[in-house]
Amino acid sequence: MNQVQNQDAHTQALTKTARIPLVGFGTYLIPDDQAAELVAEAIRLGYRHIDTAEFYQNEVGVGQGIRKAMQELGLKREDIFVTTKLFPGNAAWGQTPKTTATTIKSLNDSLAKLELDYVDLYLIHAPFDPAQRLEQWKGLVELQKQGKTKAIGVSNFNISHIEELKAAGLPQPDANQIELHPWSQKPELVAYLKENGITAIAYSSLVPLSTWRTAPGHASGKTADMQADSEQTDSPFKQLAEKYGVSEAQILLRWGIQKGYPVLPKSVKTERMKQNVDLFSFEIDAQDMALLDSQDRGDGVAWGANDPTHAA
Ligand SMILES: NC(=O)c1ccc[n+]([C@@H]2O[C@H](COP(=O)([O-])OP(=O)(O)OC[C@H]3O[C@@H](n4cnc5c(N)ncnc54)[C@H](OP(=O)(O)O)[C@@H]3O)[C@@H](O)[C@H]2O)c1
Repeated sequence: MNQVQNQDAHTQALTKTARIPLVGFGTYLIPDDQAAELVAEAIRLGYRHIDTAEFYQNEVGVGQGIRKAMQELGLKREDIFVTTKLFPGNAAWGQTPKTTATTIKSLNDSLAKLELDYVDLYLIHAPFDPAQRLEQWKGLVELQKQGKTKAIGVSNFNISHIEELKAAGLPQPDANQIELHPWSQKPELVAYLKENGITAIAYSSLVPLSTWRTAPGHASGKTADMQADSEQTDSPFKQLAEKYGVSEAQILLRWGIQKGYPVLPKSVKTERMKQNVDLFSFEIDAQDMALLDSQDRGDGVAWGANDPTHAA
């Protein structure tokens, strides 16, 4: 079913004036030269929210795809919600952490690559540098004032990182993009975000699938035990997929939406892209949500548990 995401029913409030579509198309590990066609295809299939990042090195292709689809479908810029992320730089990896000035330059560079006047959401990709985090956040606050981004947020921040912004008297983030799925539910962080009116955006929703990041070179922190569990024929995800007549991926994504998290499924395959945006024709009942809620295993795996040299 072709679902169009910009209807109010398929969005939720992000700021006093901006709404975020509940399903976004993730673009991590999509090469720049494939991004234009895949992003255009995603928009044709009904996605109205695209998630990219400076780190993904595909902003040129993502921008081309957005403009191609807008032209083909007669859409306006405000019909598409675009997120990109500041790569903050990590001294521990031999990089120079960004300052307020280089943060401002980074979004301007991203906008030039995307060929857009503004993004809808700009995030600090990770809380790498204790000395520069606040300076980077000041850059985001300034960029929002300049109209270069409608909303500002963080990603992979924990409670203490957000408290640090508060303690400095700075505006709080509109969103925190974090790894969230039934195997990594982060109840304390999610409760804190809710109390503070910060939207939790879920990434890597599909970790429990046997097919998650299995392509060569696609880094995964999944353990062999986890992968064996993903392949079990009677997993709760497979049972519920059968019961509701949908795929396991749709169960995982629908769980996220019912928890109130916008989700960002990535696929390079049209059939999967179609499934992943078709999330509004069924509802998981309370008992089955409780079954999924009982699957928490703690920390996430998307960044590679023991490998800090890659990020997403
Ligand atoms: N802020 C951060 O630090 C951070 C970290 C990770 C991700 N993200 C964002 O969140 C997005 C999603 O996360 P992700 O890319 O880690 O993973 P994901 O969307 O949870 O899963 C993608 C993986 O699942 C496979 N897949 C997709 N749909 C499927 C389906 N219907 N059935 C079976 N397999 C399916 C994909 O393979 P194929 O492509 O071959 O279909 C790929 O291997 C990213 O693209 C990125 O935009 C952000």
